[in-house]
Amino acid sequence: MSLTHFRTADHPALAPVTIQTLQDKKSQGRPISALTAYDYATARLVDEAGIDLILVGDSLAMVVMGYENTLPVTMEEMLLHTRAVRRAVKRAMVVADMPFGSYQVTTAEGVANAARFVKEAGAQAVKIEGGASRLDLVRRLSDAEIPVIAHLGLTPQSVHRMSGYRVQGKSVNAIQHLMKDALAMEAAGAFALVLEGIPTEVAQRITAALHIPAIGIGAGPHCDGQILVLHDLVNLSFSTPAKFVRRYADAGGLISDAVRRYREDVEGRQFPADAESYHLGKDALAALLQEEGVTRRKA
Ligand code: KIV
Repeated sequence: MSLTHFRTADHPALAPVTIQTLQDKKSQGRPISALTAYDYATARLVDEAGIDLILVGDSLAMVVMGYENTLPVTMEEMLLHTRAVRRAVKRAMVVADMPFGSYQVTTAEGVANAARFVKEAGAQAVKIEGGASRLDLVRRLSDAEIPVIAHLGLTPQSVHRMSGYRVQGKSVNAIQHLMKDALAMEAAGAFALVLEGIPTEVAQRITAALHIPAIGIGAGPHCDGQILVLHDLVNLSFSTPAKFVRRYADAGGLISDAVRRYREDVEGRQFPADAESYHLGKDALAALLQEEGVTRRKA
């Protein structure tokens, strides 16, 4: 391997985020920032804003494809979006979310599908949902050199089993279960956890018990980092936001206003203006007028 690749040594701020970067942030008590992105344009914006980790989340089934839940999105669709994100990102760690059905059937299939995200789409890691029943998969992924994030708590792919999207870990028994799963995932080789939809007090205890970073969504402020769905953050998700979402911008309003003004300009012949149009050069125009004069005289 050529050492000429290490151009970022002179610019540490631009150095690509690695597992070690995230681990260092946890040890130094510096919060990890994470967001979803699903396409080239938004992934570029997210990366250029300095976010540490970009998840190509299966939430794209809902916010990009308009499905009711995350279950229908396929491997091929997730690969396509991960490739688009990969092309845009220079610094952040790119993590691909494994879609429902791509790892639940057999461990071997899960490993093979995870390898596709790394090999065919350039992901640096994959994320899977679930606790104890995924331990073997997490071990096998680690053995196969595929970094893996385990997602615990409110796991949207279990929407039917959970009877809806409900906050998890509310009883002592459920909390003990979550803690056990989190520690087991760490021991099995997961390099980070996503904790979703659990009480702050529970997330705080799990985060403190782990050596690996815990990234929260709807899990309070004591996790090692936070993740949100980009479309929720900028009001592009056409739904009442969950309690844990903070809206930082109204991209929905901005885009619909721009589109409405464009339509009005087209209908009122205000678009395009002369400055937005191409013109023939002097000689070409003269030749055209002469040709048209000849044609008219002949007719
Ligand atoms: O699919 C997703 O967007 C997610 C998170 C927000 C954690 O899994």
